Amino acid sequence: MCGIVGYVGKQKASAIILEGLKRLEYRGYDSAGVCVLQGGKLDVAKKAGRVENLVKEVTKHHLTGTTGIGHTRWATHGGVTDANAHPHVSSDGKFALIHNGVIENYSQIKGFLLSKGYTFQSETDTEVLCNLIAYHYAKEPVEGSRSPHGNGQGNGGAIATSRFLESVRKTLRHVEGTYGIAVLCVDYPAELVAARKASPLLLGVGDGEYIIASDASALISRTQNVVYLKDGELVHLTKTGFTITTLDQEDVSPVVDKITWSIKDAEIGTYAHFMEKEIFEQPLALENSMRGRFSEDGSTANFGGLNLTASELRQIDRFMFCACGTAWHACLVTEHLIERFARLPVEVDYASEFRYRNSPLDRNTLFFVMSQSGETIDTLAALREAQRKGYRVLAINNVVGSTIAREANGGIYQHVGPEIGVASTKAFTSQLLLGAMLALYIARLRDMSFSDGVIYVKALKGAPDLVRDALKQAPHIQAIAKRFAHHTDFLFLGRLSLFPLALEGALKLKEISYIHAEGYPAAEMKHGPIALISEKCPSVFFAPKGEIFNKVVSSMQEIKARKGPVIAIITEGCELPPGLADEVITIPDCHEAVLPIVAAVPVQLLSYYIAVERGCDVDKPRNLAKSVTVE
Ligand code: G6P
Repeated sequence: MCGIVGYVGKQKASAIILEGLKRLEYRGYDSAGVCVLQGGKLDVAKKAGRVENLVKEVTKHHLTGTTGIGHTRWATHGGVTDANAHPHVSSDGKFALIHNGVIENYSQIKGFLLSKGYTFQSETDTEVLCNLIAYHYAKEPVEGSRSPHGNGQGNGGAIATSRFLESVRKTLRHVEGTYGIAVLCVDYPAELVAARKASPLLLGVGDGEYIIASDASALISRTQNVVYLKDGELVHLTKTGFTITTLDQEDVSPVVDKITWSIKDAEIGTYAHFMEKEIFEQPLALENSMRGRFSEDGSTANFGGLNLTASELRQIDRFMFCACGTAWHACLVTEHLIERFARLPVEVDYASEFRYRNSPLDRNTLFFVMSQSGETIDTLAALREAQRKGYRVLAINNVVGSTIAREANGGIYQHVGPEIGVASTKAFTSQLLLGAMLALYIARLRDMSFSDGVIYVKALKGAPDLVRDALKQAPHIQAIAKRFAHHTDFLFLGRLSLFPLALEGALKLKEISYIHAEGYPAAEMKHGPIALISEKCPSVFFAPKGEIFNKVVSSMQEIKARKGPVIAIITEGCELPPGLADEVITIPDCHEAVLPIVAAVPVQLLSYYIAVERGCDVDKPRNLAKSVTVE
């Protein structure tokens, strides 16, 4: 939610910032703005709507300065207007600020500042922060100084502590809530102060330039060297160096990491949308997720990053998984597979519920969180709550260096590269794969035999090819999408490990097509949703080969008897009674652990093509954001 970017260097800041904002737009696209420090002034251009609106606006300004900040907004406090767009400028005109997060005590601070004569142009919590910095700055006495140290890069470069830095630090000590901020001050023309608490922020260390951003995609075209900032840290940038300190004024020695992916991974290539690209990238993404993670004897999985020995894992007698959105659906499939193959109980909770409901946890519970971004605030809060209670928390996560990855006690990286489409696709199937591998690993520590392990591993290794096969259905699914795109209600129905896929199918359609859809266990449908059935409400059924096939067919009959159109997703070798389904999509028959991965493909494609058919903005669906960093 909200993307921020800031630049200090030798180049024209506005160009680099606008490029960064385009890449961060998935985080929010209600408005966008940029501020450049030039000629001793803060020059702000901001506009409601997409970054492309801002690009037009910027051409009216002559932004040549080499220090600047930019923001793309997902509205929290205040409507979607030019005035509420960031950057905000303090009423004395000295400071400009961008913010990702929520300042919870902003109304008290605003009351205080109003009493001191500060004025406000917007309804945002952010403007309050900006004016509070101005207030502290005005009170800050003399320029303190600290001796330079280091090598001219991190914590070097002879940067003296300044009124600017100290006024930001003081302000943040009074703030309750979450923030990733970047601040400019007219009195410091080539400097920028940034800080974070709960909202993500990293520093790119380039060649004679520094870039701060909410995520690596905004700076990867300029540098792969990054410092991940931690909660409560402030970074002070100048053209020659940077310092990192804490809210308590302690020095932090920076660790410079290297990003392993490149700008090419974040480009759309020949695809029409990132979602389409990411759907078709899934075979490769699955290969990357599983690479090097099977044992030499081919009977189990290996996860070095769990930081747990086999005997420690043997002590575990229950699992808890917390996540949000699509990742929560992946947890439900994982639950099914761990219970089915490892015969251990699993509980899955929405992270947003877990964090407040004080759920009793058994001593031998192993706690997992799942999050593509590693920044979802509710998932992070669930992790922290579990750790507070003394649990070791492991994370299944895609973004290396994300807050969840750093705070977890161990975990499994997904390695699927950047996922940019707001609706998660390749990250989801990778989570399903890793959940299935985890189930195997635990099962092999318990009762699963060597030979069953070998069969399971072989099946998982075949998943990328099976997904390739399923993707060949794309033209057929596109035709189905054309036929059904005008419907306004859909049911998605599945059983066992495909019930979560029904939830996911419905979520995908809602997210990107704005069509009302519900996911239900197929047999449960007759306890309510069947009342919705008419020729206007199609039902998408998962009907794989196996013991429940006939039961699902009976549910289809019940829908058909009420004139409901049926779209059946069946596995190869299944036969439906003639005339029962209006459309049939056939996916490869496969092992139970792989089936949810392969079954994801047709519902992803169906929702994608329906959204395209309806002219929806697939990669930037209204009101949504990819990384939800507010509660
Ligand atoms: C948002 C996104 C979803 C995603 C969810 C959880 O709602 O729109 O696609 O599944 O957040 O995100 P995470 O990064 O924690 O997996």
